[in-house]
Amino acid sequence: MYYPMITPITGFSKLKKEEKIDWLLKTYLQDSENSKKILKQYWNEDDAVQQLHEEFTENTLSNFYLPFGIAPNFLINGKLMAIPMTTEESSVIAAASKAAKFWQTRGGFKVEVLNTTKNGQVHFVFNGDKDKLKNFFNASKESLIDSVSSITKNMRKRGGGVLDIELLDKTKLLEGYYQLHCTFETKDSMGANFINSCLEKFADTLKEEAVSFQGFNTEEKHLEVIMSILSNYVPECLVRVEVSCPVSELYDDNPITNEVFAEKFLTAIKIAEVEPYRAVTHNKGIMNGIDAVVLATGNDFRAVEAGIHAYACKDGSYTSLTHASVENGEFKFWMEIPLALGTVGGLTNLHPLVKVALEILQKPSARELMEIVAVAGLAQNFAAVKSLVTNGIQQGHMKMHLMNILNSQKATPTEKQELIQYFTKHTVTHSTVAEQLERIRN
Ligand code: MEV
Repeated sequence: MYYPMITPITGFSKLKKEEKIDWLLKTYLQDSENSKKILKQYWNEDDAVQQLHEEFTENTLSNFYLPFGIAPNFLINGKLMAIPMTTEESSVIAAASKAAKFWQTRGGFKVEVLNTTKNGQVHFVFNGDKDKLKNFFNASKESLIDSVSSITKNMRKRGGGVLDIELLDKTKLLEGYYQLHCTFETKDSMGANFINSCLEKFADTLKEEAVSFQGFNTEEKHLEVIMSILSNYVPECLVRVEVSCPVSELYDDNPITNEVFAEKFLTAIKIAEVEPYRAVTHNKGIMNGIDAVVLATGNDFRAVEAGIHAYACKDGSYTSLTHASVENGEFKFWMEIPLALGTVGGLTNLHPLVKVALEILQKPSARELMEIVAVAGLAQNFAAVKSLVTNGIQQGHMKMHLMNILNSQKATPTEKQELIQYFTKHTVTHSTVAEQLERIRN
């Protein structure tokens, strides 16, 4: 291993892109011409597109490609849609497409947004009299809301804005800890900047109002704001998606009967409901679908991930996000998840591929995008659990992974063609692919 002698660098962000690359090559990459070539190979040939991507963030050196694919045949509330997905995992889009096709002939996905309230908190410490704090809050609530009127003006025109501010006593959790729990409607924007701007203004107003509140003594006037930030936990911004069909129509290419399939499927869901080790992987499969659409549509997948996993343990232990039942011969499979998404603002009107993704989805509202993303999550989970309780996951997964293995072994187009044919009838593993390549090459 190469251990370079490194001295700290100052003013790095001020250097030009080429200078940053040169520094990096010299400091960490042994002046590798190949690394330089690769970094430059990923620059867009259109300077304007390249500059746009560079300006999304700081210290950009190159672009990082992920496949942008499409899963067609999604029947969602009666409308046939093709869903754009950005993912590196080889089997994700194939699985989504398969589940879409399966449910397209069985009534499709029924999906409904339950509510769209987002929230954020001003966290503060107050060591004075609780009743005085309550009186102060009640007396100041209107001023707090008025203080953000210039920030909320445009949002109010679009039908959104601040919904409410509550004073919450959290002193049982932490001495002196209170919060302003604030709720918002942000319409078609995800609303992070809007919410954070409102919260920071609330914090300033709270401090100012406290200083002039007659009822407080000198110490109480100096309540201490710790921080003001939106929450990515949005349990009042929920979407529910469901598929259903008679057990007699569950037949597809299953190697087992419909009844046995339904029973095994239900048990698999029950296991994910009671066993966190399984629940995490089960939900990861759901996120395969969700993240891919969230990324393709320029939304914040870290926020979505954090919020959904928190929701998966809202009742005290981590559990499955999906549920299933069979009643009177009817199979039902559903999921309820929180999703804070936007179809305006952020990357949505900046990133050229995101714009195409939103056009493919017929320029959805944020509510419609919540529906589409939830559908992709349920579809992905259906495909995964279906494989798991029948043929196992590896058969399909490795089939889709074959191309990656062939590429990593530098297979030529002719070798690829021959081995793709060969592996339609044989099990794909790293070693069987290597063996077959050697056979052909020798
Ligand atoms: C792999 O990316 C996802 C699965 O592990 C999900 C699951 O186990 O349900 C197949």
